[in-house]
This record gives sequence, C-alpha cells and structure tokens, in this order.
Amino acid sequence: MTATRGFGIDIGGSGIKGALVDLEDGRLVGERVRIDTPRPATPDAIVEVVADIVAQFDWEGPVGITLPAVVKKGVAHTAANIDPSWIGTDADGLFAKRLGRHIDDVAMLNDADAAGMAEMRFGDPAARQGVVALLTFGTGIGSALFQDGKLVPNTEFGHLEVDGHDAETKAAASVKDNEGLSYPEWAVRVDRYLTVLENLIWPDLFIVGGGVSKKSEKWVPLLEIRTRVVVASLQNNAGIVGAAAAAAEGIEH
Ligand code: BGC
Repeated sequence: MTATRGFGIDIGGSGIKGALVDLEDGRLVGERVRIDTPRPATPDAIVEVVADIVAQFDWEGPVGITLPAVVKKGVAHTAANIDPSWIGTDADGLFAKRLGRHIDDVAMLNDADAAGMAEMRFGDPAARQGVVALLTFGTGIGSALFQDGKLVPNTEFGHLEVDGHDAETKAAASVKDNEGLSYPEWAVRVDRYLTVLENLIWPDLFIVGGGVSKKSEKWVPLLEIRTRVVVASLQNNAGIVGAAAAAAEGIEH
C-alpha cells in the first residue's frame, strides 16, 4: 500500500522545521512547526529539538530528516554550516533511538537532495527530463543533480572552487546579506558560479531555490548563463516535503 501521508523534518542553518505532508499533492497538512537551530548545532542539541517537534504531532509512522551535510547510509560526512562533531555521526541511529523508531523508519538525506526530490515529484513535469541541477541559495549553497528525474545524491556543488574560493563563501544568499550586496552585485557572483558549473556538467536546466528565490525577479533575469533557469515551485517547504517522501519510500543512499 502506498502511504498517502508522510512526515518530514528539515534541519537548516537557522531553523528546524517539521510538518505532516500529503504525499499525493506535496502540500503540508495543517501547521508547520519551526524552532530556531540551537547553537552550537551539535547532534545532541539538534536531536532534542527534532524530538520536540515530532512530539507536537500525532504521528507514529516513518520520519524523513534532512541535514545540511553529505549523508551516506545514514552517516553524516561533512559539516560546513553545522557543528563539526556531526562528521562521522550515525545520524540515522541517533534519531531512530531518540524518536523510538526502527532504523528503517528514519530516512536521512541531504537537504538539497530532499528539496530536489520534492521538486521532481510535485513540481513542473518538464524538470524530469534530461540533466537538471537544483541549487538552493541560503546559509550555504546546496545542490541536487538529476538525470530524467533520478537523483545522483550528495553532489555538493556549492563547494566548487571558483576563482580560488569555495563557491558558497562568495555566492550563498547569506553572503549577500552579510556583505550588504545589492541584488545586481550578488547576481554577478551567482552568474560566475553558475557559469563554472554549467561548463562542468552541461545541464539542460537549472532550478534555483532557497528563500532568496522568492525575490527571483530581482536577480534571475540578470543571469547571462547559457543554461535555462527556472525558479523552484515548492520553495520554503521543499525540504520537508522531500524528506517525507523519502521516508515513505524508504530511501537510503
Ligand atoms: C553543505 C551542503 C548543504 C548546503 C545547503 C552546504 O554548506 O555542504 O551539504 O546541502 O550547504 O544547506
């Protein structure tokens, strides 16, 4: 039987969000709960916040959880914008134990991969054709790569070296805010970043997401790259929706 509802948690640099998801249309069911990401963002601190969120719902089923990190077989391998103690942490085991669930009922995945999966399932069907890269511009830059709708997990294109710098330290949305850049100034950096990326992977389409995609009219038209760019249709809740879908499908990379 295919589940019609799922539950997703999106762990981000500034907030941890959870909600029930209708897996037929990709919409949230009822309220979304958000709690600020604790600092330092250690595994122990985050697991408590996640348990707190799950407890606010009447949900006994599988839980999908995103991390802003490389996640392979439930283990976190990087920690660019979370506490370094995540590296090597068996996130799957940690959350399953705290949430009182079987390990198979907790699906851990990278946040951008989750957002991309949601976009593939519930966004524009045209995105399911060819080589498509979704990029999320937030605290860092997340990436999800698809061929004909199938995910290649953990691509981490946000850390490409561009002109001698880790790309996300120049072109993430947080950098725009921290350095007080105007949209045109920031768009020049995004353009340079996407040019390097398109010359490496030759995608058919870029999908741009993250909070800053809500103001897409201020920067997307300024991009001069070869590849077509569209704005993500799910925006803010894509991570939650993708996580819930992954849990329902039992996805584990
Ligand atoms: C992390 C990625 C994550 C992205 C967006 C990067 O710093 O390395 O794993 O997807 O930020 O949160």
